[in-house]
Amino acid sequence: MEQYVIKGGNPLVGEVKIGGAKNAALAILAAAIMTDETVYIDNLPDVRDINVLLQAIEGIGAVVERINRHTVKINGSMIRDINIEYEYIKKIRASYYLLGALLGKYKKAEVALPGGCNIGSRPIDQHIKGFRALGAEVKIEHGLIIAEAEELTGNHIYLDVVTVGATINIMMVAALAKGNTIIENAAKEPHVVDVANFLNSMGANIKGAGTDVIRIKGVEKLHKTEYSIIPDQIEAGTFMFAAAATKGDVTVKNVIPKHLEATTAKLLEIGCEVEEFDDAVRVVASKPLQHTHVKTLPYPGYPTDMQPQIAVTLGLSQGTSIVTESIFENRFKYVDELARMGGDIKVEGNTAIINGVQKYTGARVSAPDLRAGAALVIAGLAAEGITVVDDIVYIQRGYECFEEKLKALGAQIQKVSNESEIQKFTLKVG
Ligand code: EPZ
Repeated sequence: MEQYVIKGGNPLVGEVKIGGAKNAALAILAAAIMTDETVYIDNLPDVRDINVLLQAIEGIGAVVERINRHTVKINGSMIRDINIEYEYIKKIRASYYLLGALLGKYKKAEVALPGGCNIGSRPIDQHIKGFRALGAEVKIEHGLIIAEAEELTGNHIYLDVVTVGATINIMMVAALAKGNTIIENAAKEPHVVDVANFLNSMGANIKGAGTDVIRIKGVEKLHKTEYSIIPDQIEAGTFMFAAAATKGDVTVKNVIPKHLEATTAKLLEIGCEVEEFDDAVRVVASKPLQHTHVKTLPYPGYPTDMQPQIAVTLGLSQGTSIVTESIFENRFKYVDELARMGGDIKVEGNTAIINGVQKYTGARVSAPDLRAGAALVIAGLAAEGITVVDDIVYIQRGYECFEEKLKALGAQIQKVSNESEIQKFTLKVG
């Protein structure tokens, strides 16, 4: 298994270019098969989850041509299979977006039931509720979700939970249903808006994305388009907190500052200086960091995908901070790892009580999931001494060229795959 080895202590300084949003791209790639014409998608992040989903799309017969690392051409006219194998769902649960795309286009879809994952049980009851409301018969047999409809007809759907996945999946089916659909209590994340804009660029008629009421007027068919994915607000936020934790000065470029408002607000609260430009944000951490309270909420609240990153940074702030995780039930698994680095965090239910410490000390830790893994790298960058982060395959699911981008900011970090490489790095950095 590959690992990162890090010598901490260097403030991160400089500029980093942010890639396309993984969580927008996953849904948009699925939606791309809803037309029989050719679709070009640009600003794709070259990360594992994207590459696995492209394999799943190719696996059902779509023609997928990688123009370059960040651009793909897809044509869904040759799709011959509406069954998405468990092997893909096991790797990335977002394959379930193919359920909405295939049901919308072919009125039939079979997708292996996504399991839970490291951060929680991840139910899909709201997805199924929406599909049924649009006229589909949905059953779960032999680990498969089988959805089929004689006819798809618009309806008024009230989501019981604010859910990104269900909002997007229902939007895709409704785009090709007969008549009008209203989704109430919809998720408002930037990537929900990006998917709606993408579908509209293919001829769909979707209004209100980004608010909690989305109105969709079904159309007969969707057509070709060329589209560019929005920047990844979570990758940007991760680098912003890396700047804060290492007392650095980092400008994240190619971002939409509005998408980062909750993150920026917290960085200001803990004593960082934040400067916003049209498509960039600069974070300077020159003063000692202060404690604060944060609760993760659906957008525009503080994002759950940025919870481990702020918690690790608060672990180095003066005073006691409280972090409440209100979205997922098991998103504090990094706390035990951080304790090995000297972190002083106590988890009670869905709340972490964080007593700031003077410093972290380098240790061997394992990434429990994607964002926690990135947060442990941040801890290693700030720590005194050498940190080895194991299981970085989780991190590679969502961060393109993570170590290269950090090195360009002055970090001493290297991807390694055995003990002798760790020793060599340790000798080299002294
Ligand atoms: C998306 O997951 C993201 N993944 C997650 O990012 C992100 O944490 C999450 O949205 C919240 O912003 C992708 O976009 C691929 P949800 P999703 O449905 O859609 C409950 C990352 O790190 N719920 O908004 O699965 C659910 O249990 C990943 O990039 C139901 O109860 O999240 C959770 O408590 C991790 N029933 C809450 O809603 C349902 O049918 C939010 O989940 C669906 C969800």
